[in-house]
Amino acid sequence: MRVILASSEVVPYSKTGGLADVAGALPKALARSGCDINVITPRYTGFGARRGDVVSHETGSLIFDDLQVPFGGTVKYASVWLDYLDDAPVYFIDNDEYFGRGYIYGYGDFDAERFAFFSRTVLELAKRLGPPPDLVHCNDWQTGFIPAYLQSVYAGDPYFQHTRTLFTIHNLAYQGHFNPGLLSHLGFGWDVFQYGMEFHGVASAMKAGLSFATALSTVSRRYAEEIQTPEFGNRLDGLLRARRGDLLGILNGVDYSEWNPEIDPHLAAHYSIHDLSGKRECKRDLLREFRLPEDLDRPVIAIVSRLTVQKGIDLIADAIWRILDSGAYFVLLGSGGQSYEDYFQHVRDMRPSQVGVYFGYNTALAHRIEAGADMFLMPSAYEPCGLNQMYSLRYGTAPVVRGVGGLDDTIANFEPTTRRGNGYKFYEYSAERLLEKVYEALLAYYDAETWQALQRNGMRADHSWDRAAHEYLDAYRKIITWRR
Ligand code: ADP
Ligand code: GLC
Repeated sequence: MRVILASSEVVPYSKTGGLADVAGALPKALARSGCDINVITPRYTGFGARRGDVVSHETGSLIFDDLQVPFGGTVKYASVWLDYLDDAPVYFIDNDEYFGRGYIYGYGDFDAERFAFFSRTVLELAKRLGPPPDLVHCNDWQTGFIPAYLQSVYAGDPYFQHTRTLFTIHNLAYQGHFNPGLLSHLGFGWDVFQYGMEFHGVASAMKAGLSFATALSTVSRRYAEEIQTPEFGNRLDGLLRARRGDLLGILNGVDYSEWNPEIDPHLAAHYSIHDLSGKRECKRDLLREFRLPEDLDRPVIAIVSRLTVQKGIDLIADAIWRILDSGAYFVLLGSGGQSYEDYFQHVRDMRPSQVGVYFGYNTALAHRIEAGADMFLMPSAYEPCGLNQMYSLRYGTAPVVRGVGGLDDTIANFEPTTRRGNGYKFYEYSAERLLEKVYEALLAYYDAETWQALQRNGMRADHSWDRAAHEYLDAYRKIITWRR
């Protein structure tokens, strides 16, 4: 089976969030399973990436510089670079006009144009690379144009006659809206707008993906159900209900070659489920890094996150003083959201011996926090999958989560009497419920045996990508037999 995976971000080359982790890890696991997988992504050049963006210019070697792409009423050119993620080739689309700008995402209509160009180029590159793909796996709105192009511009193209598409939703809230006046410039006729791209008067790249793809998926079972409701559906729940027979939920995996406390190069000490003693060293190291007193018996409560409404930062802001009154340390690594930054800087200034904050993006520190913390907060308003709670499990750090999306699918509330469960979970979106769970966790923390039982339950979980990749392969096999 020949598959193309298109993504606007891929670890380790570019990243603003979990989509990049997925696009960097899934292909490796697919290649291990014998799938002929080819990743295609933009090559972001230019300097001055936004805070919170990771952009690397190490993108392998130039393989050709004359790819022609009919676009914007003319023919544009792209260069193509090739690198490998283990056995999976990654092709980079290099075009200065669209990707030489020092940022991954900008705003509005120009972004729609940039990623429509990317989507069109994916299809033109496919043709150049050889045999037709059986399936193009699209991810989020930036690639929602691909199914739309296949159903319109390329509908009669014999090369794509047997090509099917899977459109994966990583976050339904970002939809790529743009002015319909741009459609003809992107190469779309009015019918495409009318029959699948129109969203309350504007054009929507997300809706294009949802309307025109052969099949749909999202990154947890729970989120697949949630997005069919008005509460989580971002006004697309009607369409998702109509297509629920084509909608799968496949939980993301964890790249255990990156996230494993037994070998993690970022840590001061290593540890495993059999011997947790190294975790104490990691805690000491973390407290030192944040210049906090090294009182190892006090719990460290942590968060690593984009600072947005999605992540439930408001609940933490609301609960923080009461959390601190319990005597725990609080450590935050976050990026984006100036008002949140100001707030938590204020918290740090008020309690300098109890709170550590780092604003910006720092992968090594993210690893050290997972290892050095005792509890990890994820009270998300919504969470398609979430990766940090799965990292926390492996690092013996108890996740305290709100039971939405992938958080609900991966975390079971710990019951001290039966010693079952791997974290703490509440449902109502309120600071009080969050606090209750933090207090429950603190209670367990001060009983060493109970706490170790909880840690081991978490560390035992297997969320490897190989498992997720098999689910994707099964889905691919099924989808290629469907009508486009
Ligand atoms: P989302 O994609 O919605 O941000 P995920 O939990 O799927 O949420 O993925 C977030 C990823 O980004 C994780 O790999 C996490 O460790 C990382 N991350 C988030 N914020 C930061 C930060 N400030 N510094 C380093 N890594 C971060
Ligand atoms: C999105 C979601 C996050 C998910 C990630 C990867 O960024 O917000 O929950 O884990 O995509 O699928």
